[in-house]
Amino acid sequence: MAKNKTIYICEGCGYESSGWLGKCPSCGTWNSFVETVIQKKSAKSNSRAWLDLDVTSDQEAVVNLATIENADQKRLCSNIEEMDRVLGGGFVRGSLVLLGGDPGIGKSTLLLQTLANLTAQYSTLYVSGEESPTQIKMRADRLQIDTKQIQMLTATDFTSIAQALQKHKPDFAVIDSIQSIYVEEISAAPGSVSQVREATGGLLRLAKALNITIVLVGHVTKEGGIAGPRVLEHMVDAVLYFEGEKSNQYRILRAVKNRFGTTNEVGMFEMTQSGLKSVDNPGTAMLEGRPLNVPGTTITSTLEGTRSILLEIQALLNPTDFAQPIRNTQGIDRLRLNMLLAILHKSCGIATAPYDAYVNVTGGMKIIETSADLAIVAAVVSSMQDKPINSDLIILGELGLTGEVRMVTAIERRILEGLRLGWNKFVVPAACKRSIKNISLPDECEIFYVSLLKEALDLLFS
Ligand code: TYD
Ligand code: MG
Repeated sequence: MAKNKTIYICEGCGYESSGWLGKCPSCGTWNSFVETVIQKKSAKSNSRAWLDLDVTSDQEAVVNLATIENADQKRLCSNIEEMDRVLGGGFVRGSLVLLGGDPGIGKSTLLLQTLANLTAQYSTLYVSGEESPTQIKMRADRLQIDTKQIQMLTATDFTSIAQALQKHKPDFAVIDSIQSIYVEEISAAPGSVSQVREATGGLLRLAKALNITIVLVGHVTKEGGIAGPRVLEHMVDAVLYFEGEKSNQYRILRAVKNRFGTTNEVGMFEMTQSGLKSVDNPGTAMLEGRPLNVPGTTITSTLEGTRSILLEIQALLNPTDFAQPIRNTQGIDRLRLNMLLAILHKSCGIATAPYDAYVNVTGGMKIIETSADLAIVAAVVSSMQDKPINSDLIILGELGLTGEVRMVTAIERRILEGLRLGWNKFVVPAACKRSIKNISLPDECEIFYVSLLKEALDLLFS
């Protein structure tokens, strides 16, 4: 007889508890526990069951690794360059991929475009639990997709989706979204942790058994009311996140887990009138329309995965009479700015206290690296003193508390990418000299080495 056991799961983070709790000890969310029934196998449920070894079974489970076929040749390539790159060369057959992201960021659009590209070669199925066929047709028409080959199913109950998958056995299926699917046997509401986990578990088995590549869409919500993709990350083969500011046209596709490739690659897309387009030249896309030779702007390079992207940093310093000046940042950490301003004061004697400071990374990008420190301080001083910095310069360097310019990682890659994009003047930390010696640089390339902030500012404003 199978015995049922009840546990309580936090909808925010998946924390399990044997009793109901008001506040989750793991993520701190209030009132997030839901009751979940788990079925226990009772066959050999005594605590020593694992000792009851059955030597005749499971013999075939041991295989020689050399006899296993390499699945790489059989990847499904969507021919959307940025998508394939992030996956490590296309979708692996029979894999389960989770695509997470904020509502409205463009997940359905991206997958519809991917599916449309795949239909030329493979059989596909689009399962939607959120939108009606009419809505999807409208979107497809807007994306100028040929819909003749696309099969679609509107369903939210797991059984009919499983039946459709078993019947049609498509090569590639999209489930949009996992939060709208429910398993009838479970009483919890669709979107709750237990529903989402159970449905994902079922889809995982189907993907492996029928060799179907399944992509699940998962909405990320901050409130934790609907189970976010976080609780599913360990179950799937790959987790991709689609990020960006909705107000901005650029989107980044990032792999945070990938069993079939690296998690270092990112894909860049631009949301246009006719859907998502791969950004061909992400290195300079962010610099379009930038002002030249005006005070308060500098260029630096940041790494996104294995690629370096050039970004413009703008600073605006405005005199203020208030004792507490404003420190406002977009795209960089505000506390980091406070620290950089303190370094500037202490090591160069330039006081920013009488000024409100606004620092912005254009294009809605975020810089999490410290390699942009020097470029930020240079932009601040440039705005404050109303002196422009040569707009052909790429400025790189981390700042230490004593005002020293410290080395940055992957300097070779940043310089080579800069050169490829037509830049040939770089201000870099002296500590990177050795790494740069190893790369062959063209004659017109000028590299300025700096070891102190003061030295760097003298160079930039000379
Ligand atoms: P959608 O794919 O529905 O987002 P998600 O599935 O992640 O919730 O994308 C919705 C947004 O994309 C919507 O705000 C409008 C915008 N969009 C465009 O700008 N151009 C287009 O061609 C399409 C289809 C959508
Ligand atoms: Mg959607």
